[in-house]
Amino acid sequence: MNYLLLPRTCYLLLLFAIFVICFLQFGLRLKSTDHTYSTASTQNINKQLCNNLLASYHKCVAYSSSLANNENVDNGWEMTVVLRRKLGSQPLTNASLYWNENDRFKRLNNLSSTNCKILYNGAHKAGTDGLRFLRDYPSCRVWFLEPIPAFFNSLIHSHRIAHELGKQRGFAYNIGLSKANANLDISSRDLSDDQGLTLIGKTSQKNSTNKNQLVIRDISEILFEYNFLSRELPNPGEFDLLHMNCEGCEYDVLERLIETNLIRYIRIIQFGSHRPKAIRATIDQRYCCIQQQLTYTHEKQFGIPWGWERWNRRN
Ligand SMILES: *[C@@H]1O[C@H](CO)[C@@H](O)[C@H](O)[C@H]1NC(C)=O
Ligand SMILES: *[C@@H]1O[C@H](CO)[C@@H](O)[C@H](O)[C@H]1NC(C)=O
Ligand SMILES: *[C@@H]1O[C@H](CO)[C@@H](O)[C@H](O)[C@H]1NC(C)=O
Repeated sequence: MNYLLLPRTCYLLLLFAIFVICFLQFGLRLKSTDHTYSTASTQNINKQLCNNLLASYHKCVAYSSSLANNENVDNGWEMTVVLRRKLGSQPLTNASLYWNENDRFKRLNNLSSTNCKILYNGAHKAGTDGLRFLRDYPSCRVWFLEPIPAFFNSLIHSHRIAHELGKQRGFAYNIGLSKANANLDISSRDLSDDQGLTLIGKTSQKNSTNKNQLVIRDISEILFEYNFLSRELPNPGEFDLLHMNCEGCEYDVLERLIETNLIRYIRIIQFGSHRPKAIRATIDQRYCCIQQQLTYTHEKQFGIPWGWERWNRRN
């Protein structure tokens, strides 16, 4: 059929349909911004706003990729192993450029003096960091999150954790954080890695007989569900510390917090950054966009790519 021969009413209908689609798109977009949590005081962050033309961005990408130097490593600690192997008997004098695990225990300022709350994502089997926070900050309570059932099982049966759970200073949940809610059916083989297990790039095994269902939750829902923030806008309150050692989930969580503007209600954000194989090809760019976007609301206290970093909210 020759479209030029269509009766005029068809063109009118087509125009009308285009109009309706545009209207819906625009309307929905307006509606979705209603759901972000904005207050007048701080500038909104647009997730599209990563400016990859900035010199600081290029510097960040160049530096973070040079630190990993195309090696098959997940973090800076593994990189120091590679470098030491290459150096043989010579000492690695610049190891602190690659790995800074002790920095995460540097004194945290600006925690609430009463009713301080810490969310610890990736508690693994021992909940080491959370226990340390409980010891060092008596006004704080810690929520230990661990999605891998076997790790979680070890966690809640550890004597020290059970003690904190009993005192209601610690709370443990068998979930992981991300940008959306999901149930992942992971095969036992995928879960067999004991240390530093990443879920990034693992796919749901619908047909696998030997599978483990992991519960992954949207950070933007958890903050309200656990009453860390209140839905009473425009004053949802604030949350003390988000601490993450989650083998790659940090990117999804941070991007989600940035896109929903919830990031501004978190006083301190501390995370280890990782290079999971499944997203390694573009990880430098992604890492550096997050670096850039965090500077709108927070100030970096310390940090190195593929190691630990801490961001304090600007007041
Ligand atoms: C650290 O030292 C090693 C070995 O001397 C060297 O190969 C590497 O380039 C250095 N790294 C940085 C970031 O300076
Ligand atoms: C599950 O199904 C996919 C696609 O049908 C197949 O490639 C895979 O081998 C199956 N896995 C198992 C564990 O049966
Ligand atoms: C932390 O508290 C100190 C002293 O009260 C204040 O000077 C500083 O600006 C605060 N920093 C942040 C990141 O909130």
